Amino acid sequence: MTVKEIFDTMDYGPAPESSKEALAWLASKGDFGHFIDGAWTTPGTLFAVMNPATDALLAQVTQGTQADIDAAVTAARTAQPAWAKDGNARAKVLYALARILQKQSRLFAVLETLDNGKPIRESRDIDVPQAIRHFYYHAGMAQIMDAELPDRQPLGVCGQIIPWNFPLLMLAWKIAPALAMGNTVVLKPAEWTPLTALLFADICNQAGVPPGVVNIVTGDGEVGEMIVTSDVDKVAFTGSTAVGRRIRELTAGTGKALSLELGGKGPYIVFEDADIDSAVEGVVDAIWFNQGQVCCAGSRLLVQEGIADAFHAKLRARMDKLRIGDPLDKCIDIGAIVHPRQRARIADMLAAHPEGETYQTQAPDGCFFPPTLITGLSPASPLMQQEIFGPVLVATTFRTPAEAVEIANSTRYGLAASVWSENINLALDVAPKLAAGIVWVNGTNMMDAAAGFGGVRESGFGREGGWEGLEGYTKPRATAPQAQPVAAFAGEGAADGLDRTAKLYIGGKQARPDGGYSRAVFGANGKLLGHAGLANRKDLRNAVEACNAAKGWGTSTGHLRAQILYYMAENLSARADEFADRVAALTGQDGAAEVSASINRLFSAAAWADKYDGQVHDVPIRGVALAMKEPVGTIGILCPDDHPLLGLVSLMAPAIAMGNRVVMVASRPFPLAATDFYQVIDTSDVPGGVVNILTGDPADLADPMARHMDIDAVWSFANPALTRTVETAAAGNLKRTWCGTLDWTLDNTKSILTHATEVRNIWIPYGA
Ligand code: NAI
Repeated sequence: MTVKEIFDTMDYGPAPESSKEALAWLASKGDFGHFIDGAWTTPGTLFAVMNPATDALLAQVTQGTQADIDAAVTAARTAQPAWAKDGNARAKVLYALARILQKQSRLFAVLETLDNGKPIRESRDIDVPQAIRHFYYHAGMAQIMDAELPDRQPLGVCGQIIPWNFPLLMLAWKIAPALAMGNTVVLKPAEWTPLTALLFADICNQAGVPPGVVNIVTGDGEVGEMIVTSDVDKVAFTGSTAVGRRIRELTAGTGKALSLELGGKGPYIVFEDADIDSAVEGVVDAIWFNQGQVCCAGSRLLVQEGIADAFHAKLRARMDKLRIGDPLDKCIDIGAIVHPRQRARIADMLAAHPEGETYQTQAPDGCFFPPTLITGLSPASPLMQQEIFGPVLVATTFRTPAEAVEIANSTRYGLAASVWSENINLALDVAPKLAAGIVWVNGTNMMDAAAGFGGVRESGFGREGGWEGLEGYTKPRATAPQAQPVAAFAGEGAADGLDRTAKLYIGGKQARPDGGYSRAVFGANGKLLGHAGLANRKDLRNAVEACNAAKGWGTSTGHLRAQILYYMAENLSARADEFADRVAALTGQDGAAEVSASINRLFSAAAWADKYDGQVHDVPIRGVALAMKEPVGTIGILCPDDHPLLGLVSLMAPAIAMGNRVVMVASRPFPLAATDFYQVIDTSDVPGGVVNILTGDPADLADPMARHMDIDAVWSFANPALTRTVETAAAGNLKRTWCGTLDWTLDNTKSILTHATEVRNIWIPYGA
């Protein structure tokens, strides 16, 4: 094209980025082995890595074997204790990695574009700078860990499995915090895009990363599964919900920590008072960034009815101007789809659901897919519900803010959402109502190392980035002895005085167990103390329905919840002697000490109810990211066998202090302390349905509880043998689980609060 032609047409001229350096680096390496213990292994069985834009062979990479994984895990295990010792030494290494990445940034960007097909504009301006930022940010975290997180310690060896949509950035998200907190890693890049991870391995030695601290092994999902089942202490996974579910099942009961960052179907909500031109431009970033292969993409467009036609028309006009083609051309907006198989998946999905009105622009031949807008879909359409993971925007309309929220929340996912309105009251009213770990007000796809990223529901659990992300790479220093199942006392004879059969406590009322069974409870001295109902799955269902009806608790003020918790403490204190006698009779232990500690825990939870503040993250935009602590929702809690009152109170109080509703299964051998506690709850102004207590065998209730779709998290402190059941069943809706053991004689309230909350980051840009 001549300069004159360019002036005549006002078209963009080509601005190709050279691939010379990147191809020369690949040629210099030849076939790749793995990077284990600071050195390259001999290449094994090879598979090809292709450039999706040209179908050219880029490199041959080794398919890992079990022996490779074992060697990598052993190297990581051996290196870990020394690596964990010195925060300043770790900070220096992470800083060096950031600096070298910066110095080699163009090589990384070009290699990323060759391997993944994303436009060089994005890899150069977003992927690589964000990766660098992660290493800088976490260098700082390594430096201040000892001072700021004195109660936390590294997990050990982390197995990390990442997808192909942001190969280098996901590597940085995984490796930087893990290393900062003193862990060592075995990381597997996706089989379609392993090259920047291999280049990163190359710079690890230059940066002085000690051998074994970072190990990179390549291969497909089978190799991923080998990592999951190897001797690692944590698995961190980003990828599809189906694989996330499988990993949840594989790790169940193994004691491995797990974080899952899975799919999404992000709503992009445009109110009629939005700045329409900005919102149209926002859509370009929401769904055509990285060809729409973004878990937090704004892939569902919800436009208020009055402006829908005008908005769609503007959007179609903007789509016509999007430039799609050679990803190495700096003028290109949309590059290649990562792999022909992914392209086929997108095309097949649209072909299978020929619904709505489709508007599509042109795309070159090959592994490209045109920007697509499908309007007029019903919210229940599979295209509105399932992740397409391509440049396809599906759209519907809404009338009122309430309807917008309802449609937005009507998928299985809960990762990210965008809200567009010039009315700050409206935007900030809607933002907290969305089921999403991240909400952008008048913006989209903003991410930063300082702000946690991650979702709720089937988008997974755990956060990456920010202070909240460190939780997933550390564990408490304090250890508690493994809980042991406690046998109920045997006995015989009749109770003294009137027969006492305790009922269940559901929705603020006592309820007879559905099954009509109860069991005799004998005291330490063999005397009959009363009967306790045996709850079944119908009772559980009723309790969850009671929780659903008590949703308002989640939006009550911390001030109110504090008062109610203090009041509970007051009422328990008024009956302290009676409870002490009961606990002593049940357990044969010091009842007075248990009651006094329980009152203390209620005070602690009341204290924190209005003080467990969120944060304002210092993100590099003109604006703020508000990290809000929010309730998880409904939590199912299996109480410990021992400490029948203190165990229940220690878990219930922080949970409800944060606005959760709970279904608790009382201590199996000593249920009557919990059933007496109803009266304290009843007299303390706790709204019905906030606390529900079942008695019976946790072994019968663990599975239905962990499977229940309306329970958002399960905490299991009953028999440790139930951990596997809980974690396996929780794979269904990927609910958070916490199967642990605590020293009930210590006040663990603050550490329980992290389990009782989700962090939602709401990004609010400043400016007119
Ligand atoms: P995937 O979930 O299969 O792959 C992601 C990573 O997991 C890769 O490194 C892969 O080798 C590994 N993996 C696969 N099976 C495994 C297993 N059984 N155990 C351990 N690791 C395993 O994603 P895929 O098949 O490439 O893409 C399918 C769909 O998943 C996409 O169309 C998209 O909807 C979604 N996806 C979502 C991503 C996200 O960021 N949330 C990223 C990639 C895909």
